[in-house]
Amino acid sequence: MKIAVPKESRADESRVALTPEMVKKLRAKGFEIGLEQDAGLAAGFDDAAYQEAGAQILSPDEAWSGELVIKLRKPSLEEAGRLREGAVLICHLEPCTQDEVIRALLAKNIKAIAMERIPRISRAQSMDSLSSQSNIAGYRAVIEAAAHYGRFLPLMMTSAGSAKPARLVVLGAGVAGLQAIATARRLGADVHAYDVRPETQEQIESLGAKAIVLDLGESGSGEGGYAKELSAEAKAKQQQLLADELAKAHIIITTALIPCRPAPTLITEEVVQRMRAGSVIIDLAAANGGNCPLTEADKVVVKHGVTLVGHTNYPAMVAADASNFYAGNIKNLLEIMVEKGENGLLLKDLDQDEITKAAQLRAE
Ligand code: NAI
Repeated sequence: MKIAVPKESRADESRVALTPEMVKKLRAKGFEIGLEQDAGLAAGFDDAAYQEAGAQILSPDEAWSGELVIKLRKPSLEEAGRLREGAVLICHLEPCTQDEVIRALLAKNIKAIAMERIPRISRAQSMDSLSSQSNIAGYRAVIEAAAHYGRFLPLMMTSAGSAKPARLVVLGAGVAGLQAIATARRLGADVHAYDVRPETQEQIESLGAKAIVLDLGESGSGEGGYAKELSAEAKAKQQQLLADELAKAHIIITTALIPCRPAPTLITEEVVQRMRAGSVIIDLAAANGGNCPLTEADKVVVKHGVTLVGHTNYPAMVAADASNFYAGNIKNLLEIMVEKGENGLLLKDLDQDEITKAAQLRAE
């Protein structure tokens, strides 16, 4: 079975869906692999490295007309039009809205696997790209915060004077939030964290941070480990109870998301006004509307003396490792999708396994 990997076309994307390391592993499993010319260059993998790993270098037309096409980001409408009828496509598909691209894929009978829909069960953990990429985003968010903050993160005592550690608050202790806590702790910040799911308190404390506990009168735990949307009353209570904690923070890294819903507002303009000048807010929810209404997606802005960072693609800033993790997710997924036939690997029926059944794109 042949895998084709087109080059990512979005301007903000430097990752690639397969890396030379994973090409080697997939070749050992019996796959043949081709990548569009320069597909991995922005992530630090040149064509020679892929060829050495056993891949072929393809023209754009060859890459898009493959029987099994693997990408990282959702294709554009024009790219969807280049896929062959009935092809298999694996990538992120942003499937919450059935837009024209999704409709075009369905109309062409493309068997598409949306990486966002890989179920959050133990068996699928190694295929879960939301986790692998959120983990990187959490790490990179702290690096970004440290770069924008005009003071130290750790306690510093020198002969020229001393500096107090930064008070850093993480909102949302999911995959990205927990990695942000761990990274900020390694850099010596005084870390506090909050999540609407009560079960996170233990996880926050196990990383050496202080858990912020609020009584909202209802639980925010939803299905599959995710949060659910709070009632209007609980949302207002949450904003009010969080305000004092947030106003004291020097850095806030906010990651709160609810699947297929706009991100909840956790940091009001009033809180930003109360924060010390020079403070930093890294809003990882920027692509989904932000956890702060002052955040502007893909921009760094200063409001009320506070720097608000709205980058929407942190994993692409750690492109080599992010690509390798994503490629690892793909390799693990492909292993459950094929079986050995007389003349090589054959694709199994996608409904046969609960993972590919759940992740398959369908008309809604
Ligand atoms: P996410 O990216 O959807 O959300 C980030 C965090 O924001 C979540 O922890 C959520 O509880 C929190 N949040 C949402 N609304 C909030 C609010 N109003 N205030 C404060 N916090 C709020 O979630 P993520 O990080 O992708 O995963 C969440 C959980 O899913 C994990 O902690 C884990 O329990 C579970 N999970 C299970 C996996 C598996 O079993 N294979 C793999 C990955 C995650």
